[in-house]
Amino acid sequence: MDASHGTPFSTLIRTASQEQHTEAENSGFMSDMLGGRLGVAAYALYTEQLWFVYGALEDAVDRLSEDPVAGPFLRPELLRVPELERDLTHLRGPGWRDGAVPLPATAAYAARVTEVGRSWPGGYVAHHYTRYLGDLSGGQIIRGTAEKTWGFERKGDGVRFYVFEEIANPAAFKREYRALLDALPADDLEKQRVVDECRRAFALNTALFRELGARFATGRSATGAGGPLSA
Ligand code: HEM
Repeated sequence: MDASHGTPFSTLIRTASQEQHTEAENSGFMSDMLGGRLGVAAYALYTEQLWFVYGALEDAVDRLSEDPVAGPFLRPELLRVPELERDLTHLRGPGWRDGAVPLPATAAYAARVTEVGRSWPGGYVAHHYTRYLGDLSGGQIIRGTAEKTWGFERKGDGVRFYVFEEIANPAAFKREYRALLDALPADDLEKQRVVDECRRAFALNTALFRELGARFATGRSATGAGGPLSA
């Protein structure tokens, strides 16, 4: 069953989450957003939900900075909360915090990130990988669509979340990141647990898209909407 022996961990984790990546990419909400079928309110709510998720991710940074497993991944140039806050000020106005509420899926996602951030550095790495490496990749496609659909200034307010000002060469950065994954100080069992947590991270993202999709159903996204949304 274990074909992982000898396979670099970066390959293992990517391969293990490939199917869920496709599912997330093709979720009704993402398809509608990338297809230009949603209004800016949907994008603003999505951005707000990311603020809660990245708040949880980045609240753990201080406590994990010296950790031998998670510490090497914590690069200041990745931090997204300040960028999300600038985007939200642009999208919602300076009082945006007053109305910011996590959807149930967001609260569950952020709670899991907080939990692993406090108790399991390997699990935290799984969440870190799922979000930041994704933002450096597909995130760039979302930025381009958002600029075109809602008229944000190129790489300006509204899409700063997707702009990594201090990462001049994302491809090189991702290579280094994968080298860190490959050097993860963990045995095979722990690596398998990290892969499982990555799958869980993808599932938490998909659940969030489902809730967002239910709110902004365009007909197409209704298929991926799941159950009714309490709120
Ligand atoms: C419509 C939305 C999305 C598009 C178009 C997209 C596109 C891509 C592309 C093109 C890559 C490959 C980049 C490369 O090989 O360097 C990638 C990688 C990645 N994406 Fe996405 N993505 C989307 C959504 C997501 C979501 C929702 C997540 C998770 C929250 C995610 C997580 C990742 C991760 C972790 C990688 C890195 C895989 C690896 O090389 O290890 N993506 N994405």
